[in-house]
Amino acid sequence: MFTHDTLQGRVALITGGGSGIGLEIATTYARLGASVMLAGRNEERLQAAAQSITQAGGAAAVCKTDVRNYDEVKHTIETTVDRFGSLDILVNNAAGNFICPTAGLTPNGWRTVIDIDLNGTFYGCHAAYPHLKASTHGGCIISIITMLGVSGWPGAAHAASAKAGILALSRTLAVEWGGDGIRVNTISPGPIGDTEGVKRMYIDSGLGELEEKKTALGRFGRKQDIANAAVYLASDLGAYVTGDNLIVDGGRWLKYVAQ
Ligand code: HXC
Ligand code: NAP
Repeated sequence: MFTHDTLQGRVALITGGGSGIGLEIATTYARLGASVMLAGRNEERLQAAAQSITQAGGAAAVCKTDVRNYDEVKHTIETTVDRFGSLDILVNNAAGNFICPTAGLTPNGWRTVIDIDLNGTFYGCHAAYPHLKASTHGGCIISIITMLGVSGWPGAAHAASAKAGILALSRTLAVEWGGDGIRVNTISPGPIGDTEGVKRMYIDSGLGELEEKKTALGRFGRKQDIANAAVYLASDLGAYVTGDNLIVDGGRWLKYVAQ
């Protein structure tokens, strides 16, 4: 287990921090000493999330943000620095997704997901760069992707393409910004139970049980599994890790390839 001061003194911005995996990362970071800024479109949900963190003794604030808008993202990053004094960790977690066979996907449907996932991640990295470079802990970017971006994702070409793009962006920045002390990594969760992602992709279409069987471990992961990986990468424990894609998927990827 991590000690209570694992992220002491760090400031983290988590996009999509008001729900699901993003909220779990934010809650865990705050418990381990970080100050967290939660960004997303639904302000009410963000406020409720921040309140649950502060009630548990953590430091949290919110900034309503649509990551498709560069100016809003830049404003959120500046608000974070004004409020907490620095920005040390950026977690690009916000995403949009829906199942739609490619032949029926409209250009706007394609653009919407590319805008949220890929462009939103680029905007965050770009606007955060000077602050991450100034971090006394060494800057850290973590983007949440999926190995379905590597394998291809029938029924979700938009999300597959966006996530593959984020992987390429992250590996590029790991090299470009390594000299600035900024580490850039991705995490690839497998199917995580009790999330909007798994609901949309598998539960709603009755494929939940099949998806669990497709993992080597035979079950969905927990949000905490992803938060633990995000702590490791953001903390000094991961100080020499950059350009990595940390797969936390219960063997879903390997089973896909091996069987
Ligand atoms: C086909 C669809 C569609 C659907 C939307 N569109 N939903 N097309 N099937 N189910 C099309 C619309 O018709 C429209 O195109 C375009 O997409 C934009 O739709 P809007 O509703 O106007 O978009 P917006 O209000 O901006 O909402 C964005 C969204 C929405 C992505 C569509 O679902 C959302 O806000 N999602 C956020 C939450 C989320 O998706 N969480 C899951 C992340 S999980 P036209 O041409 O009609 O204008 C994940 C991976 C999970 O990423 C992995 C599991 C293993
Ligand atoms: P989720 O709860 O729906 O999280 C997505 C978050 O993104 C929401 O909080 C949403 O907040 C935010 N968001 C969406 N569009 C946005 C926009 N335009 N601007 C700002 N924020 C926006 O889903 P989740 O399942 O936890 O997914 C979290 C991440 O994990 C995603 O990157 C997803 O691709 C990845 N992932 C999930 C799984 C899984 O099993 N669930 C597996 C692999 C990867 P608002 O609605 O308030 O904007």
